[in-house]
Amino acid sequence: MAHRDILIVDDDRQVREVLHQIFISAGYNCLLASDGREGIEVFTASRPPLVVTDLKMPGMTGMELLQQVRAVDGDAAVIVLTGAADVKTAIASLKLGAHDFIMKPVNIDELLIATERALERRQLLIERREYQELLEQRVVEATRDLASAYRQLQDTYRSTLEALGSALDTRDVGTEAHSRRVHGYTLATAREHGVPEADLPDLAHGVLLHDIGKIGIPDAILLKPGPLTNAEWKIMRRHPEIGKALIERIPFLRGAVPIVWAHHEKWDGSGYPRRLKGEEIPLGARIFMVVDAFDAMTFDRPYSQAKPFDVAKAEIRRCGGSHFDPSVVESFFRVPEALLEEIRRRSVEP
Ligand SMILES: [Fe+2]
Repeated sequence: MAHRDILIVDDDRQVREVLHQIFISAGYNCLLASDGREGIEVFTASRPPLVVTDLKMPGMTGMELLQQVRAVDGDAAVIVLTGAADVKTAIASLKLGAHDFIMKPVNIDELLIATERALERRQLLIERREYQELLEQRVVEATRDLASAYRQLQDTYRSTLEALGSALDTRDVGTEAHSRRVHGYTLATAREHGVPEADLPDLAHGVLLHDIGKIGIPDAILLKPGPLTNAEWKIMRRHPEIGKALIERIPFLRGAVPIVWAHHEKWDGSGYPRRLKGEEIPLGARIFMVVDAFDAMTFDRPYSQAKPFDVAKAEIRRCGGSHFDPSVVESFFRVPEALLEEIRRRSVEP
């Protein structure tokens, strides 16, 4: 399609010739057709940007041609030529997408001005549409970029959390991969307990970071081989509050605060630091308490040998109602033992 091609459709050979001369003199290239049928054929083959057609022709009328041309190419500009008797039809043609109509006999200036205007308007419409498409494309791309930035951020969050958690594991000797196991047990128990999926990320963060406050406990106490003195225990017991203070200013960890703060509270109110009782203790912390105790009993530590699962479970059952929320204990017991084994096996893999 050349930019300055014009298709002239008129059954009157003389009119065709006159129009041809006018357009050629003005620097356009012309394609000629003597009726509507030929007109649509030439148009389909060459796709000129502008069609100038007579309205009244034998066979296919100018109106029919207009409709067919616009069906082939919605951007095509069409100017109709009309005699005085046909002005109503000419006006109707505007509603069907004609850009203009010219009264016969044709005035050269009027025709050339209408032609220029029709081509410009067509160009404007195309540019506007392309701009619109470009904008839409940009929006799509921006949205996609945003989604991937968000995913990256999420990944960063997760690896930061894991790094923090494992740094802690490494320092707190003997609990290597403890966080990963407790994390797995917690999610399995939470699902059995009917905790909504949407709440699980906060729960997971809380579990991974439960002992983050130990960063603030001196090595001499944290890594002490023997039993702690009363004064040392007092310092050790500050770790939930140190942990809370550490993470409560980080927006994406805010949901983990209740668990970090309450992970040593006991069902009967004998825990610390706030001596919360029963359901005053956040559910996440109550779940953590059970699975943390289970992991402590079933995994070798420097000061105690691992117990078999059934022994650990009996001990947990015994403490339901005193240390542990009895309903959470029931949920934990519903987690299949094969799943517990699987979580345990995976936690030691690199
Ligand atoms: Fe702790």
